[in-house]
Amino acid sequence: MSAKKRIGILTSGGDCAGLNAVISAVVEAASKRGWEVLGIHKGTDGITETPHSYEVLTVHNFSDSPWPRLSGSYLGSLNKGVKMESLEEMSRRFAIGVKELGLDAVIVVGGDGSMNIVSNYCKGSTVQFIGIPKTIDNDTPITEFSVGFQSAVQVCTTAIDSLELTARSHNRALIVEVMGRDAGHLAMHSAVAGQADVCLVPEIPYTIDGVINKLKEIKASGRDHAVIVVSEGIKTEDGSHLSNKKNLVGEAVYGGIGQYLCTEISNRYKEFQIRTTTLGHIQRSGVPVAFDRLLGGLYGAKAVELLADGEDNKMVAWIDGHVTAVPLSEVVKAGTTLLNPQSDVVMAARELNIYVGEIEK
Ligand code: F6P
Repeated sequence: MSAKKRIGILTSGGDCAGLNAVISAVVEAASKRGWEVLGIHKGTDGITETPHSYEVLTVHNFSDSPWPRLSGSYLGSLNKGVKMESLEEMSRRFAIGVKELGLDAVIVVGGDGSMNIVSNYCKGSTVQFIGIPKTIDNDTPITEFSVGFQSAVQVCTTAIDSLELTARSHNRALIVEVMGRDAGHLAMHSAVAGQADVCLVPEIPYTIDGVINKLKEIKASGRDHAVIVVSEGIKTEDGSHLSNKKNLVGEAVYGGIGQYLCTEISNRYKEFQIRTTTLGHIQRSGVPVAFDRLLGGLYGAKAVELLADGEDNKMVAWIDGHVTAVPLSEVVKAGTTLLNPQSDVVMAARELNIYVGEIEK
């Protein structure tokens, strides 16, 4: 058995379904080795703020509770909307917190941004660091899947199914705006799964006329309803983002493109009544689907194994059906993974007659 360790686990950034399954897996695998797990509250705040905020997690009080089956984060998460001190000051506080809590290692369940930030904090201390990718946007580089993505796809697909039924009753074309920031993975996967008619994503240019032509084609085929999926990050037809709003760390805040499309299409084409639904944060809090809980188990177990092997500054990743570990520096260097317009899912969407924008042949 490896030397006894005290490890901290925290969740950082926007929550998603499956986080508690990850925490549970870490608790199980660490307990098996006789290690102690501190669940850190509210992201890194639980370490950098005083008094530190945490609790001891055990198989008995956490893994055997209903929490691993639920969405949300039992530990709470740090929201990017909070203004932070300088990196130097945060690293100093982090190093003090880690020492006072007696941590040998920290596991961060977060997006690439959170992992990058915390790995920088860790540079000033001897604590081992392992990241576990999570995001409904599925844009964390290198790994094919981040925890939370499949559950969000399920929420969006269920919404498309529901909208299709009311669209059918009222002979309407219904637009659904989904999250994903600048990546169209969530929109495209749910549009294919839900058999939508149109799917607009930030990576592929589109025209309003292209959407209208698709609606005309549907009408001509004798069908009187349609469902249109739009990713929140798409631009207006003239190539601008609707809002210039930024959060406190300078990232664009999206929302409203569905309503813009509704107005534009309605002004130019009157054969369908058009309405918009914005799904919003329910995409982050659906029931964790089996695949996200499975990822939670695999990633949590792998993270603990990596710590036992003395690994540091790595992110666990799913690559070609295997769970492996990649250096965090490579993840940071790779940047965000956007939807590839030539990917299988986009190709399938086109084969299935979904209008996905203007892709060159
Ligand atoms: O990154 C996850 C995500 O849900 C994005 O899809 C979305 O744009 C953003 O977070 C919303 O952030 P907030 O919770 O700050 O509104």
